[in-house]
Amino acid sequence: MTTVNSEKLSSARFAEATDAFVEEFTASVQFDKRMAEQDIQGSIAHATMLCAVGVLTTKERDAIIGGLNRIADEIIKGTFIWSIKQEDVHMNIESRLIDLIGIAGKKLHTGRSRNDQVATDIRLYLRSEINHIEAQLRRLQTAILDLAEQHFDTIMPGFTHLQVAQPITFGHHLMAWFEMLSRDHERLQDCLKRINIMPLGAAALAGTSYPIDRQLTSDLLGFSRPSANSLDSVSDRDFAIEFTAVASLIMMHLSRFSEELILWSSAQFDFIDIPDAFCTGSSIMPQKKNPDVPELVRGKSGRVTGHLIALLMLMKAQPLAYNKDNQEDKEPLFDTVDTLINCLRAYADMVPHLKAKKENMYQSAKRGFATATDLADYLVRKGLAFRDAHEIVGLAVRLGLECKRDLAELSLPELQQFSPLITSDVYDILTLEGSVAARKHIGGTAPETVRKAIYTARDSLKNPPNNAQ
Ligand code: ARG
Repeated sequence: MTTVNSEKLSSARFAEATDAFVEEFTASVQFDKRMAEQDIQGSIAHATMLCAVGVLTTKERDAIIGGLNRIADEIIKGTFIWSIKQEDVHMNIESRLIDLIGIAGKKLHTGRSRNDQVATDIRLYLRSEINHIEAQLRRLQTAILDLAEQHFDTIMPGFTHLQVAQPITFGHHLMAWFEMLSRDHERLQDCLKRINIMPLGAAALAGTSYPIDRQLTSDLLGFSRPSANSLDSVSDRDFAIEFTAVASLIMMHLSRFSEELILWSSAQFDFIDIPDAFCTGSSIMPQKKNPDVPELVRGKSGRVTGHLIALLMLMKAQPLAYNKDNQEDKEPLFDTVDTLINCLRAYADMVPHLKAKKENMYQSAKRGFATATDLADYLVRKGLAFRDAHEIVGLAVRLGLECKRDLAELSLPELQQFSPLITSDVYDILTLEGSVAARKHIGGTAPETVRKAIYTARDSLKNPPNNAQ
């Protein structure tokens, strides 16, 4: 068996050194060093609390805090040497602290364990990343509002079953995207409430016999409160699963937006132009301009949902309390954060440059008999039952299809052969403009309603995210 000469912090119980491959296999420092800042933040609060309750002297506390700040500097400068031998971010930092300040450094781990330490780090990490996610989400929402404002009265076909259904405004369609993202923002804020609880003090699983002041540590770290059960504190990862579920929903929304942009930018729809900066050409077909950014975002949504499933599977069979399985939570979580931030950023950068091809949208709505329902509603207002009106309009649409004309292009005598109730005022409602203008109730597509919805939405964005930090 290959062995290495280990100087692990936790090696005394072992007669033999760890197998070199096992050492590498069980280490997490390669990826959890990303939480170094949070680890140091947590250690400073822990040392401050230990001093406040008389476990450390002020001299020891100051030496620890000085050493930890120096380590933070080394990490920022890139001079800190990470070692697989020290297994993870926590032990790398602690062993460097002992190198730097000696015996006081050895006292930092009093009354805590890596189990409550890592749970604290992840929570601090997610709390800060949610701020970055929120910033990109808000940028995207603002970009959507700006575009919706330019197109509050731009007419396009609305679809059901991807068939032209009824005319809508492009602004209204964009505001549907906005609504989805508003709910995502609320979900992020809500999961933050459960993230922002402090596990430190749970120690390995049973708490500690030192007279710790968990409320003080919690206050120092800006948590809303200390966790209520030590076993749950070290084993719970449902806060991370919940975050990944929220991320999956956001990615699902971005994927749906992507699908629409891809369809709309195709020659078949030709509703929008995606700026060149967000597309690439084909290496073989010179005429191609591919919507790479939306396609990649659509593709990446699957990856985040995959992480959600991975985390659920990671947890489902774990007995209380901490198990090493939990080390496997980091990579899916980190990749979820990176993917989400990058996709939101790409969208927030791209949306302001989308160009709507208004004339094509308009013609497409016209071609699809989009005002058929309006004709049926017109007949109902003149006294027909809706089902009978539906039947009559079906016949008129069939005539339009045969002679390749829109309903508004059929003459009055042609329309009247289906019902004598039809008079010349029918043309007011057969136009696309008349159709959208009539839908002016709350949530409707009328330009004036869309405008109001945009004002209300802008107001909602002015209220800064109410997160826990
Ligand atoms: N690297 C570990 C993790 O990510 C830290 C906690 C280790 N605790 C232990 N009892 N081995 O979960």
